[in-house]
Amino acid sequence: MDKKAFITGISGQDGSYLTEHLHSLGYEVHGIVRRSSVAENQQTRLTGMTPPPTVYYGDLLDQSSLERLLSEIQPDEIYNLAAQSHVRISFDIPQFTAQTNALGVLNLLEAYKHTCPNAKFYQASSSEMFGNSVDNDGFQRETTPMTPVSPYGCAKLYGYSIVRNYRRSYDLHACNGILFNHESPRRGSNFVTNKVIKAAVEIKYGLREVLEVGNLDSYRDWGHSKDYVKAMHMILNHSVPDDFVVSTGESHSVRQMINVVFDKLNLDFDKHVVVNPKYIRPEELKYLKGNSTKIRHTLGWYPEYSFEDLLYEMIEFWESTLTR
Ligand code: GDD
Repeated sequence: MDKKAFITGISGQDGSYLTEHLHSLGYEVHGIVRRSSVAENQQTRLTGMTPPPTVYYGDLLDQSSLERLLSEIQPDEIYNLAAQSHVRISFDIPQFTAQTNALGVLNLLEAYKHTCPNAKFYQASSSEMFGNSVDNDGFQRETTPMTPVSPYGCAKLYGYSIVRNYRRSYDLHACNGILFNHESPRRGSNFVTNKVIKAAVEIKYGLREVLEVGNLDSYRDWGHSKDYVKAMHMILNHSVPDDFVVSTGESHSVRQMINVVFDKLNLDFDKHVVVNPKYIRPEELKYLKGNSTKIRHTLGWYPEYSFEDLLYEMIEFWESTLTR
C-alpha cells in the first residue's frame, strides 16, 4: 500500500515542492490549509498537480482539527511546515507568531502522540534560531549555540526544543531539519530574493524605476527549495530520529545578491536601488553560513543548484510571467 504523508503548510513554497517530491516517490499526500477570505489565491502553488493532494481546512491553533485529521488519515509521515514565516513581520505580530510557531508545534505533537505515535514527525526548524552566534570557523552547525534575535527565531527555538523533548520523553520518531534560507520561483514576493528579482525584471521592462530595500549588508546562505525538500524526506527516513543542518555552505550579502541579479539584467545598482528604513529590522541577524557536513556524510544529501542557477531560474520565471 502507498505510504501516506500529512503536510501542514502544504500550500506554501516548501509544501508544494514536497508534495511533488513525495508523489514522485509514490506517496499519497494529504495536507491542511487555513481558511482565507480569498480562497482563489490560496492553493495556486498546488494547481495542476497530478494527482492532486487531498487538502482539508485545518489550523495548528485548532487542536480538534489536528486530532480529527490525524486520527482519520493515520499518516506514516507528518511534516510540520506551517508557520508565520516572515521574520520582520514577526516584530509586528509577535504573539500570533509565538502561538503558531511555538505552541502550534506542541499542539501537533500532542495530536500525533495521541492518535498515530508510530508515524514519523518532521519539524521545519530554522537557521534563524542561531541569531548572531557563529563558530570560530565562520559557520553555524548543529552544535552552535542558539541565541535568536527575532520573535520568529525565539518561537522556532521553542518548536525545535519541544520536538527534541518529546522525542526523548515519549520515544517518538521526531526530527528537526535546521534549514538555512531557501528560495525558488514559488517564494513569497516579500522575501528578499524574490522581491529583488521581481522588481529588477519590472525595472528592465520599464514597469518601475526603483527597488526599495532594507539592510544591504546582512549575509545569507541561500539554497533552492527543491533541493531542501529532498533533505526533509531523507532526515525523516533516517534509521534514528535526529536533527540536521541543511545549507549550501556559501554566504552572500544582500548587496552581492542584488549585484548578480542586476548584472544579469544589465541594470545599474546606483541608479535604481534605494534603502528605505521601513525594511530595517529592530534587531538583525547579520550573518548566516551553514556547515551541512553531518547530513552530507550521514545521509548523502547535497544541493544540486548553485547560487547563480537559483537566481537565474527566478529571473526566468519573472521574465516569462511579466512578458506573457
Ligand atoms: N524581506 C526583506 N525585504 N528582507 C530584506 C530587505 C527587504 O526589502 N532588504 C534587506 N533585507 C534583508 C533582511 O534584513 C535579511 O537580513 C535578509 O535580507 C533576508 O531576509 P528574508 O528574505 O526576509 O529572509 P530571512 O533571512 O529573514 O528569513 C528566511 O530565512 C529563514 C531561515 O534562516 C525565512 O524564510 C524564514 O522563514 C526562515 O526560517
